[in-house]
Amino acid sequence: MRVHLDRQLCQGHGRCYALAPAVYEPDDNGHGLVATDPVPDSSHEAARLGSANCPEDAITVADD
Ligand code: F3S
Repeated sequence: MRVHLDRQLCQGHGRCYALAPAVYEPDDNGHGLVATDPVPDSSHEAARLGSANCPEDAITVADD
């Protein structure tokens, strides 16, 4: 699985890294970063959870 976080769309809501810290992490300003890409099988559910909960729809996930 590949995950992309659009830094132009991200407004720093922080739900992604709060809900799925294995996949997302904050930068120094609280905006999201992808911590692991590609995403290992064990974190696919977390990656989707973070994507689904971003209010800005900034995160897209794609299965390989
Ligand atoms: Fe940004 Fe969405 Fe996460 S706005 S910090 S990508 S929940």
